[in-house]
Amino acid sequence: MGPLLALTLLAGFGGEWTPAELEALAAMSPLEAPPADPTNRVADDPAAARLGQWLFFDPSLSGNGRISCATCHDPAKGFSDGKSVAETLGRGTRRTPTVVNAAYQRWLFWDGRVDSLWAQAVQPIENPLEMGGDRRAVAGYLAREGDLRRAYEQVFGAPPDPGRADLVFANVGKAIAAYERRLVRGDAPFDRYVAHLTGRPGGDEGALDSAARRGLHLFLGRARCSLCHSGPSFSDSEFHNTAAPPGEWGDPQDPGRYRGLTLLAADPFNAAGPFSDAPQSAAARRLARLRHTTESFGAFRTPSLRNLAHRAPYMHAGQFKTLGDVLRFYSTREELAPTSHHQESILRPLNLSPTELADLEAFLLSLEGRPLDPSLLRAPSSPLL
Ligand code: HEC
Ligand code: HEC
Repeated sequence: MGPLLALTLLAGFGGEWTPAELEALAAMSPLEAPPADPTNRVADDPAAARLGQWLFFDPSLSGNGRISCATCHDPAKGFSDGKSVAETLGRGTRRTPTVVNAAYQRWLFWDGRVDSLWAQAVQPIENPLEMGGDRRAVAGYLAREGDLRRAYEQVFGAPPDPGRADLVFANVGKAIAAYERRLVRGDAPFDRYVAHLTGRPGGDEGALDSAARRGLHLFLGRARCSLCHSGPSFSDSEFHNTAAPPGEWGDPQDPGRYRGLTLLAADPFNAAGPFSDAPQSAAARRLARLRHTTESFGAFRTPSLRNLAHRAPYMHAGQFKTLGDVLRFYSTREELAPTSHHQESILRPLNLSPTELADLEAFLLSLEGRPLDPSLLRAPSSPLL
């Protein structure tokens, strides 16, 4: 046996994909444009995206005039903040997730307490720990500032009416969402490799080296990662309790999805509510089908695994500083959060070797998409297109 063959056998993967694996891979790539959002009629309107980009970087939406969305979702840090948990006016108990590729998620926030990007965007503005603002002040600000007022009127067909602050607020969310829908990073080395395997244009067999290929094989197979990190955004859009320890700043009693479901049903900006542009849509109907069970206690939404490299630390409370720490946690299942409630039974120790851990990490790093257009990374010169 030649040394190369011996090595390959040791690694347990000869580089040939089974038909089942090929089928799985074809379901994970490419990352198409984000799904339509009929609850936001300006979701794909370029003028709305321009206004939303302005608002995303505008600290005037905050109570003290100093905090914008970009303070925490910093383009230079993968649209996150590099902290374990967010901290501006006060310290929260959850980590700032990236906004990149958020448009693919069905439920937003770690606990899924909103069902659209626009319903998400209004919450931090009034959160006393985050921006500490107020919808009446926001509506007054838009009505006062000439360019903003004109941009708003152009997009929504009527000027911002401070007497209808809820409506203006929802529209602010819809404009911001239109911008966020452009923050998409796909076409990673992984996608080019899968394009090669499936005969799609743009394929490149060399896009994954052998370590990343072995990592991918593990990801789909023995490590069972793809049971939850599935589909082109590597998230099943569902909620699971991984029993990750809460870390320094996390809330050990965080009910996660359990409370998220209650908040979602009560959210006046949800898909079935009076500000939705499609209150009869499938998005609205699925709200009625949600079941509140204790199984959701301590469960958090499966995050996407695309573009992980520049948004450490990881998990809902930034418990893990590096990807290596996350992978060791999955491998050993040691130091689990003491919990009386439901844990995922499919998570069990994987006992991965150091080489296997390195292979998995090499694979995860192959999910780094093409950089965003630089014009999306800063405030535009004007809110008007
Ligand atoms: C103080 C820091 C901070 C500010 C300011 C902030 N966010 Fe966030 N953002 C967070 C945190 C923390 C979470 C997760 C909170 C949770 O899940 O409970 C989050 C969640 C999100 C999500 C959900 C992503 C996902 O995958 O579910 C989006 C989208 C988002 N923020 C956009 C915005 C927008 C738009 C603004 C401005 C209007 C904004 N954020 C302002 C910290 C911040
Ligand atoms: C049972 C479903 C499930 C399985 C199986 C699973 N994950 Fe996860 N993963 C999650 C959830 C849920 C989170 C968020 C947990 C939290 O924040 O508390 C997560 C978080 C992560 C994160 C952190 C991402 C971020 O943005 O913070 C990485 C990396 C990750 N998983 C990789 C993997 C790998 C690699 C495997 C296979 C070894 C795997 N996962 C298996 C559900 C799963």
